[in-house]
Order: sequence, then structure tokens, then C-alpha cells
Amino acid sequence: MNIGLIGGTGPEGRGLGMQLALAGHDVIVGSRDEGRAIETSRELAATCGSEQTADRFAGTTNVNAASQCEVAFLTVPYSGMLTTLQTISRQLRGKICVNTIAPLEFVSGHVRAISPSTGSAAEEAEREVPEARWVAAFHTVPARGLLRPGSRLNTDAFVCSNDEDALKTVIGLADEMQGIRGVNAGALENARYLEGATALLISMNRIYGAHGSLKFVGI
Ligand SMILES: NC(=O)c1ccc[n+]([C@@H]2O[C@H](COP(=O)([O-])OP(=O)(O)OC[C@H]3O[C@@H](n4cnc5c(N)ncnc54)[C@H](OP(=O)(O)O)[C@@H]3O)[C@@H](O)[C@H]2O)c1
Repeated sequence: MNIGLIGGTGPEGRGLGMQLALAGHDVIVGSRDEGRAIETSRELAATCGSEQTADRFAGTTNVNAASQCEVAFLTVPYSGMLTTLQTISRQLRGKICVNTIAPLEFVSGHVRAISPSTGSAAEEAEREVPEARWVAAFHTVPARGLLRPGSRLNTDAFVCSNDEDALKTVIGLADEMQGIRGVNAGALENARYLEGATALLISMNRIYGAHGSLKFVGI
């Protein structure tokens, strides 16, 4: 599969790109700056080690990445979400688009979840580009773990969507990543709880000086 990473030069995009390339997918790193995307794709190729995996990376602008991919991952900060979507809305039409964004603010050393008026960043993005097939996922999977080839995270990626087929595809992609299990977390509106849980997770990791994540037990 051809995967596009919109804002793929940051830790989350890099980590997802690394895992998806290791799983055998072609990864197009997108950026506002083509040079930065190419540099990131070279760095990822070097980190991956094997020549076969290294060949799976390319770097280009966000617009080209959205245009060339089959599945897009949106990995920009919430503050840049709408501006970014406005530049790639045409390219995303009909495509599965995975929103990883957790809207957060840092106030006096504390992290807080921001609640968009739509209920979640996922629904806000869907309202902006209704022609895309929206999925929200990977909020509680730490980039740090994704970025280490060979690390076994032993965590869940909670996946929300109103599109059954897109939901299954993204659960499948999560299952292909090392140490990650894709879990069906229901309708897209449930993304608000995952986005909020990210603030809790960051706070708890600070308390424990850890890099923990979330796992759903009992299934
Ligand atoms: N970090 C994690 O552990 C983690 C885990 C789960 C989910 N997430 C979510 O994943 C998203 C990305 O996280 P991150 O830590 O990788 O973020 P980041 O490093 O702050 O940003 C990722 C990339 O987005 C682009 N960008 C930055 N500001 C932008 C703006 N105003 N408009 C458009 N593009 C902008 C930059 O790429 P260019 O300058 O190259 O365009 C940057 O490299 C966030 O929404 C976060 O909530 C993160």
C-alpha cells in the first residue's frame, strides 16, 4: 500500500512511517517543505537498516504526498490541522485519512485537552473535508516507541470510524506494526475520548517518569 504522511517530519509521522515501511508498505513523507521531507525520508531509510526497507521511503510536499498515496495519515499539530486540510482537501477525496491529532494545550507545566466545538479534532477534520473516509487512531501510541525498530511496544491502537471498510483497513495496518494490536473503538465521535486520554497519559507518564501507553484487557 502507498502511505502518505501529512506532516511526516515530526516524531509521530516518522514513527508511523518507520513501522509501516517495516511492515512492507511504501511511505511518502510529506512536509510544507519538500527538502525537509526528503531529508526525513533519508534519515528513516538509514535508521531502518535493511536495503529493502530503505527503498520504501520517499519525501515530497504534503500536497504531493496526499495526491500520490492510497491512505493518508494526518500527523500535524492541532494548531495546523485546518490550514493543512485546506491545502490538501482535493487530494484527499475518497481516500482513507487517519487522524492522529490530539488537541492539547500546555498551561503552567500542565497538559490539558482542548475540546473543539465539534466534540473532537476528528469530527472537525471530517467537517472540513467530508469527502475523505475518516478514521481516528494512534492517539495513545507514543512516537518514541514507534521510532525504535525492533522495540516491542505491547500496546493497543484504538481505531474509530463510521466507515466499516476504512476501520478494518486501519486496524489491519495497526496489527502489522511491531507490538501493536489494532482495536475497534467504535464510531468516529468516540475519538473525543481518545484525544482527551492523551492528556491523561502524558500527565501519568510525567508522574511515573515512564513511557507507558494504554491497553484494553479482557478481549
Ligand atoms: N508525539 C507523539 O508521541 C504523539 C502520539 C500520538 C499522537 N500524536 C499526534 O500526532 C501529531 C503530530 O505529533 P508530533 O509530535 O509529530 O508533532 P510536531 O513534531 O509538532 O509536528 C509534526 C510536523 O507537523 C508540521 N507542522 C508543525 N506545525 C505546523 C503547522 N502549524 N501547520 C502545518 N504543519 C505543521 C511540521 O512539519 P513541516 O514543518 O516539515 O511541515 C512538523 O514536523 C499531533 O497532532 C499529536 O497530537 C503525537
